[in-house]
Amino acid sequence: MEPSKEYVFKYKGFYFGQVTTPEYVASLEDFEINDSDIFLVTYPKSGTVWTQNILSLILHEGHRDGTENKQIMERIPWLEYMSDVNYEDLPLPRVFATHLPYYLVPRDLRNRRGSIIYVTRNPKDVMVSYYHFSKFMTALEEIPDFNAFMERFLAGKVLASSWMDHVAGWYSHAKDFNILFLTYEEMKKDLRSAVLKICDFIGKKLSEEEVDSVVKQATFENMKKDPRANYENLPDDITAKDKGSFLRKGTVGDWKNMMTVAQSERFDKVLEEKMKTLPIKFIWDINEL
Ligand code: A3P
Repeated sequence: MEPSKEYVFKYKGFYFGQVTTPEYVASLEDFEINDSDIFLVTYPKSGTVWTQNILSLILHEGHRDGTENKQIMERIPWLEYMSDVNYEDLPLPRVFATHLPYYLVPRDLRNRRGSIIYVTRNPKDVMVSYYHFSKFMTALEEIPDFNAFMERFLAGKVLASSWMDHVAGWYSHAKDFNILFLTYEEMKKDLRSAVLKICDFIGKKLSEEEVDSVVKQATFENMKKDPRANYENLPDDITAKDKGSFLRKGTVGDWKNMMTVAQSERFDKVLEEKMKTLPIKFIWDINEL
């Protein structure tokens, strides 16, 4: 079944939420990049908000300078959604978040200008997280039946389209970009190392204490307590607050609590061949960390 037009539109084979327009997305091709710009790219539910917070913490040295008083969306705007933020006013380096596929990003990025951080997560956890998120976000079509949701997900008939195409597209075009790949699971396993990797990639030197502070503030427990990190100030008309939050469980392997053996096998079968071509070793269970 096709996703409802009330929630999404398709532009060049990719499903966008109705909070942007085809014209705006098309204009991003000409988006002017500063060489210092950083783009955080993900398929939804792969750890975007987490990495957004980590980047903000790193660039503002553990938020010593009061940046935490600004909403995360104002600090790190969403590229494909129109916002009130004047990009010229953002401190350098500017950081943007996006779910765009590799072929719709600003042209300059393909000329290896700017930096990209691409975060992936094992797709069963992505799907389960997405399922819960669809209940929480009023702007997403809710499909209460989990099995029906899984079929939509596997067919790429959800906002941001196919998980597989997104990840495979970015990995297979990596050489066109200045890109760092990270996984949700490696961040979970060793957050400090992931923070240092990001610092190294964006050329930011932090003291030991500052790294400690970033790591401490970016744990699930501490982010959950922070209303800005947890996107708690989104307008009521786009979230159903009684149905969840951005930071839900924050673990590896939660899919096991949701998927039956038959569903898991069906999932594996659909993705099996394609998964083999991905140069990533996915971690499916917390015990593998
Ligand atoms: P769950 O729904 O499995 O809990 P995105 O930001 O791309 O939408 O991804 C959301 C997922 O990242 C949610 O997964 C959320 O709980 C998880 N997440 C957010 N912050 C996290 C953190 N500090 N540590 C671990 N997971 C985090």
